[in-house]
Amino acid sequence: MSRTFAIIKPDAVQNGHAGAILAHIQKAGFKVLGMKLTQVSMPQAQRFYEVHAQRPFYGELTEFMSSGPSVVLALEAEGAVQKWRDTIGATDPAEAADGTIRKRFAESKGRNAVHGSDSDENAEIEIAFFFAGTELVG
Ligand code: RTP
Ligand code: MG
Repeated sequence: MSRTFAIIKPDAVQNGHAGAILAHIQKAGFKVLGMKLTQVSMPQAQRFYEVHAQRPFYGELTEFMSSGPSVVLALEAEGAVQKWRDTIGATDPAEAADGTIRKRFAESKGRNAVHGSDSDENAEIEIAFFFAGTELVG
C-alpha cells in the first residue's frame, strides 16, 4: 500500500462538487486517511507550487488556490500516486479521458477541480505539509 496527496480545489468546492468527488474517490478504491476543509493561504500556495515559481501561470495559480476553501486529502491505495493521476485525468480537461474527475468537473486548465502528487516522494512531502501524524487514520 502507498499514499498520495489530493486537493479538491476551490472551483470544485465552490461549485458544490466536493461530495461527488469524494464518492468517486471511494468508488475508485482509495482509503481516505486524512481529510480537512481549509482555505490555503497565499504563502502556503506559493510554497506548495514553488516548483512552478518561474512559470507564467504561477501568479494566477496561487491566487486561485488561495481564493476559497479546498478539501485536502491523504489517500491510500496500491500504487496510489499513479492510480490517483489516472483517476483525475490530464491537467487540461479538454484532454482528460472520459470518466476522469477532471473531464467531469474541471472548468479549465487553470480551474481544474483537483490536484494529485506526481511522485511517492512528493506525496509524503505534501501530506506532511497539511497534516500532523495524529490527523491521519492509523
Ligand atoms: P496539479 O499539480 O495541480 O495536480 O496539476 P498537474 O500536475 O496536472 O499539472 P502541473 O503541471 O503540476 O500544473 C499545476 C497546476 O497549474 C495550473 N496550470 N495552469 N494556464 C496554464 O497553462 C496552466 N498550466 C498549469 C493547473 O491548475 C495545474 O493543475
Ligand atoms: Mg503537478
